[in-house]
Amino acid sequence: MAVSLARCHNIADLRRLAKRRLPTPMFHYIDGGADDEWTLRRNTTAFDDYQLWPNQLRDMSQVDLSTTLLGQPIAWPVFLAPTGMNRLFHHDAEPAAARAAQAAGTFFTLSTMGTTRIEEIAAIGSGPWMFQIYILKDRGLTTEFVERCQAAKFQALCLTVDTAVAGNRERDRVTGMILPPRFTLRSFASFAAHPRWAFHLLMNPDFQLANVVHRVGKLGTVSLIDYVNSQFDRSVTWDDVARLRELWGGPFVLKGLQTAADARRAVEVGATAVMISNHGGRQLDGAAAPIDCLGAMRDAVGDKLELIVDGGIRRGTHVIKALALGANACSIGRAYLYGLASGGQAGVERALGLLRAEVERDLALLGCRSIGELRPEHVSRVGPGR
Ligand SMILES: Cc1cc2nc3c(=O)[nH]c(=O)nc-3n(C[C@H](O)[C@H](O)[C@H](O)COP(=O)(O)O)c2cc1C
Repeated sequence: MAVSLARCHNIADLRRLAKRRLPTPMFHYIDGGADDEWTLRRNTTAFDDYQLWPNQLRDMSQVDLSTTLLGQPIAWPVFLAPTGMNRLFHHDAEPAAARAAQAAGTFFTLSTMGTTRIEEIAAIGSGPWMFQIYILKDRGLTTEFVERCQAAKFQALCLTVDTAVAGNRERDRVTGMILPPRFTLRSFASFAAHPRWAFHLLMNPDFQLANVVHRVGKLGTVSLIDYVNSQFDRSVTWDDVARLRELWGGPFVLKGLQTAADARRAVEVGATAVMISNHGGRQLDGAAAPIDCLGAMRDAVGDKLELIVDGGIRRGTHVIKALALGANACSIGRAYLYGLASGGQAGVERALGLLRAEVERDLALLGCRSIGELRPEHVSRVGPGR
């Protein structure tokens, strides 16, 4: 059992360390998914249905991982997906993850449900930064977010569209996950067993959704599910998306699409990229794994859209398989949150460092000197040799 970041050799080790460091409700809030968690498991196991085909004896002295995404040069084709409420997982919260992403030369995405203000992230440096927005019932707030992101010089905007209603996360019900975290009879034993985490909560109990608080007021002790439900607008359509895209005017990402038909609509509304995503298995259980959606979506849109595989990435080979099948990049949620929970910025750096080293090693073992050399011929469904 890993007891320090240095002894974590892969994302699974970081997950185990996060489980030790976090009170039970917080760990399961990160780790869990909807209903029976079939989609959650499938997001990762679907990668096992694909095998890699290396080309040997090519000069591998230099391997270049750099690429471009959303008009920005990035150092390697992996970035941080939006995740809410990072202060639940570590007292340094979103800035810790943002600094680690910036140091790794890739995008950090700030969630609408984040515990850090847009302007605070911008003050860290030039990013690149992306803001994840919802079209909320309070349309004035959505417009305000766009204006603040423009003023803060965020490079991209990402609209999440797979949350018409909140997913059914049963682990949160079992653990009694509430916001803000409180010392209740139920949570006491778990908090007492994690004194470092509880100390930071006591030092700074004023837990807020930093970008929303001025509109909705401070959260009372409501269940997370009830709060999220109250904010989402079930009536959102493609017309609203087109209006938002126009208002923003910059690189625009749609997060949560899974079909060829929706990818075509994304092209029509002028999206720059799509994050192929089922919200990490946290929304519709039974939804297909993003890696399995990729081929049909790429065939439908050609090179008119950048496609990002979001969900299930735990290994460098997962990234390699996605890129070979036609993705421009991959994004990660839990992989960096396990790092954040394990050790703040250093933990996220550990997660990114491990994944990056895997991608680089795997690319060399595959016989590719750059991301651009990855081709569909490098991957196939599991089956007999060629
Ligand atoms: C704890 C947690 C919070 C999340 N919060 C958000 C959010 O606020 N907005 C959003 O669009 N996606 C959110 N997601 C989904 C992630 O952006 C991403 O789609 C997902 O984590 C990808 O799957 P992976 O965790 O297997 O990498 C969250 C995911 C987790 C694990």
